[in-house]
Amino acid sequence: MTLEPTPPSSGSSSVSPSESSSPSGITLLRGQIMHTPRNPFEHDGALVTWSDGGLAFDETILAVGNFTDIQRDYPDATVVDARDSLILPGFVDVHVHYPQVHMIGAMGMTLLTWLKTRTLLEEANMANDAYARLAAHNTIQSLLANGTTTALVFGAHFASAQAILFEEALKTGMHIVSGLVVSDQNLRPELEVSPEQAYEQSKTLIQTYHGEGLHYALQPRFSVSCSEAMLEVVGSLMQEFPDVYMQTHINENVDEIAFVRELFPASKDYLDTYDVHGLLGPRSSFAHNIHVSDRELARYAETGSSVAHCPSSNMFIGSGIFDMKRHLAAEIPFALGSDVGGGTGYSLFKEALMSYQGQMLHDNGYLLGPSHLLYLATQAGADVLSIEGIGAFTAGNRADLMVVRPPAGSSLANVLTHSPSAEASLSAVFTLAREESVRQTYLAGKLVHEKPI
Ligand code: GUN
Ligand code: ZN
Repeated sequence: MTLEPTPPSSGSSSVSPSESSSPSGITLLRGQIMHTPRNPFEHDGALVTWSDGGLAFDETILAVGNFTDIQRDYPDATVVDARDSLILPGFVDVHVHYPQVHMIGAMGMTLLTWLKTRTLLEEANMANDAYARLAAHNTIQSLLANGTTTALVFGAHFASAQAILFEEALKTGMHIVSGLVVSDQNLRPELEVSPEQAYEQSKTLIQTYHGEGLHYALQPRFSVSCSEAMLEVVGSLMQEFPDVYMQTHINENVDEIAFVRELFPASKDYLDTYDVHGLLGPRSSFAHNIHVSDRELARYAETGSSVAHCPSSNMFIGSGIFDMKRHLAAEIPFALGSDVGGGTGYSLFKEALMSYQGQMLHDNGYLLGPSHLLYLATQAGADVLSIEGIGAFTAGNRADLMVVRPPAGSSLANVLTHSPSAEASLSAVFTLAREESVRQTYLAGKLVHEKPI
């Protein structure tokens, strides 16, 4: 893969400075800027980079290009010199569980045992509002500390805990899509509700929180934990509120799939258990999808449904390796999810590295490069969620971004000092950068996270 040449000065994208509000309040961030506004799976070398770049923004991106050009257009902007840093769009995590924030790293188990012995017990603790508030706060801070500015968050089984997550997100301005998790079988009694209760509680939460900034996602946990009646309730809520999202799990683990086959003997396959109740569509996201049939892939494509690709979780709980090439061939949208706490942390840098490594090991793996990794962690997530105005540094987009600078003397700092190219730098960042290298995170132009020096 080749890098695109640094765009000439006339190639900078901008809105006229006169269209912006007052010049005061505009920040001009100077550093090595990288983004992927075009899909690198379709456009070879689609990484766009400026090595001495300028990014002018207030709440939205005003201009991006070479520093001298941007400074000429925005002479009164406050210049922040980050020449020793990389500037990337905020990450979009399309699958992360908030009630699992305190149980990352439960080793030694595969999915069903992991759920039964550790995960569901911890999720039952969300009945306590004070504990749920702590979990919500820690989730949001962990996401921001890792440069994630938008997330599709798998919620709690308790309506009050779910409301608490929305309230905590509103406090920071973080863009989240989330909702009550509903289930009526095969979990623990305290996590189960009747289909009627699920309907009432979900509807109240939608009416209270679905709107600007926050979006609602209906969330049947998985077919193992949902009766036909429960899935039908979810389908009817999707009809009643057509602009809410739906997310669930699918085709993650072979024992899980066998269990679903026993529970739904009349279904064609796992996806069909959701399909017959109308749960597929462009606002529906299915996590994992490792052991997937060709028939199912065709149904995703026909309905515009998308997939959350969660490689660190898939390796940690031993589920398998995502078949990226078949998803690409079927033109199914997918993006990265951390899947905390099955996943091993909030860093989409690490998640992207796990994806790269998984594909290297897969019999029919796709050879990913740094532009694919950046795309999967940013613009692909925006596309999967159909959220416009995030994912890349396009003028008019929300100024959601991160400043990446490794600690002095760290392995990453050593590699970057001797990097021959922007592409090599970005590869090293995806290999070595974690929370400690994300120095600043901005949400809509506002600094919301800063690492102490
Ligand atoms: N399937 C049902 N619930 C879960 C969960 O919490 N994590 C994962 N990885 N898979 C699931
Ligand atoms: Zn999950």
